Amino acid sequence: MTFAPARHTTYMASLVTERTDTARRIVAQMRVKQPRMARPPGPNGAMAAVTMMAGRQAPHEFFSGLADRHEPVTHISLGGEHVHVVFSPEAIWDVFVTNGRHTRKSLGLQMTRPLLGEGLLTADGPVHLRHRRAIQPLFHNKRIDGYVADMGAAAGVTSSRWHDGELLDIAVEMSELTLDVIGRTIFGVDLRVQAPAFAGNLDTVLEGFARGLGPLASPLSRVPTPHRRREIAAIEELDAIVDAMIADRARAIADGHVGSDLLTLLLTSTDDEGQSTFTAEEVRDEAMTLVLAGHETTALTLTWAWHLLSHNPEYLRWLNQEIDALDGAPIDSDDLASLPRTYAVIAESMRLHPPAWIIGRWLDRDVRIGGWDLPRGSVVLASQYAMHRDPRYWPNAREFRPERWIDDAGRFDERTPGVPRGVWFPFGFGTRRCIGEHFAWTEAVVMLATLARHWQIEVDVPVEPPMMSAITLRPDVPMPAVVHRR
Ligand code: HEM
Repeated sequence: MTFAPARHTTYMASLVTERTDTARRIVAQMRVKQPRMARPPGPNGAMAAVTMMAGRQAPHEFFSGLADRHEPVTHISLGGEHVHVVFSPEAIWDVFVTNGRHTRKSLGLQMTRPLLGEGLLTADGPVHLRHRRAIQPLFHNKRIDGYVADMGAAAGVTSSRWHDGELLDIAVEMSELTLDVIGRTIFGVDLRVQAPAFAGNLDTVLEGFARGLGPLASPLSRVPTPHRRREIAAIEELDAIVDAMIADRARAIADGHVGSDLLTLLLTSTDDEGQSTFTAEEVRDEAMTLVLAGHETTALTLTWAWHLLSHNPEYLRWLNQEIDALDGAPIDSDDLASLPRTYAVIAESMRLHPPAWIIGRWLDRDVRIGGWDLPRGSVVLASQYAMHRDPRYWPNAREFRPERWIDDAGRFDERTPGVPRGVWFPFGFGTRRCIGEHFAWTEAVVMLATLARHWQIEVDVPVEPPMMSAITLRPDVPMPAVVHRR
């Protein structure tokens, strides 16, 4: 792949209505008629849908509660789909890794297309592969080492705005901070000023996804309820922010800008015939995907980490011992190996509150899983929330015990003893594993260490607050916190 001056100096992106139509078409193709056959045992789907729609049980609680049936595979008929939830580590591995190439992203994720279009999260097959290869260089380990200074600088801006004893909403602060980081590192732009608009519109869209179980509430519904109209307006506002960012970069490239950021990479990438590798549409979809996937999840990890540390002061002291032993200079990539406890706190935060709480696949051919034949067109789900809290694999599963991630030599180790593969998967699996995994670990550790060095953050929220499980698992209440200078 070679690089050439920009071709997209005028920029035309698609409309949310067009992306919604595409999603409807894809979902219709995925609804294939299935044979009548024996299905794994499971609960009544209609009752389950009513329970969730009435708000009596949040989806993450409902799906993880199915684990109590002690079946490797549970079947539930939801909205006309044959949905299977897998709870045995072997079955999870079989679906997502061994048979990964015979699957596509599930119907639930296709619902995000009005917002994300066909970006890395939603695309399948050759489109996914081409985009993944093109974008991968931004996430190489060496490149991420180079982002550490920017990450620290963003944390410094946040820190400099806080006052001793101030009351803040820590979720809002962390979201602004991680948006700033993704802007500086991947996009080469200042996104902090857009943070309130991003957060407000994203809240509206994600609440829509959380409501998306009922036929009228689905993000693909044709019924223009007031909720739907608000959601579409919110997506249009997010579009406007991302479109303006791309148009700015396209103009700068036309004026001679040379850079190695995502937008320059996408806008200037050409094939051997000199044709743009990415259409304007694709540039928009990848930019939206990376800005959203790249900040919301890490913000949640940090928010839950502060929350858990507030409830476990002995572990805050344990963490601070490690951070205070550093020399006080801004954290750089060489310091990361000296921060196993900081990594462990982040891991334990993602174990108890996995930002991506469930992942799903649509089977593109018949597959035998956990002793059951599942025909093409079935949906298979695996829940991080369920597996990360499963007492079969985690001693004191519901307790915050970051030391479980520290090995005998005092190093951080993700392979905790007694936890088989297929149980711990905060970043997914195989070829669809999170492209930002190493970026997210680095960012979360740098942020936690930089802020904890100067601040003690007391989050005043119960241990298990109400949570909203839309695409991500978010607190469903404000997260008030008082910050004390150390
Ligand atoms: C704690 C932070 C994060 C968590 C827990 C997380 C989790 C995940 C998970 C579970 C998947 C797989 C989804 C599936 O299989 O259906 C995924 C994919 C993805 N994530 Fe992340 N992520 C995080 C941070 C990031 C960051 C920082 C970025 C970018 C800067 C990012 C970009 C993506 C993209 C583009 C994909 C799709 C990859 C593909 O299919 O090729 N994520 N993430």
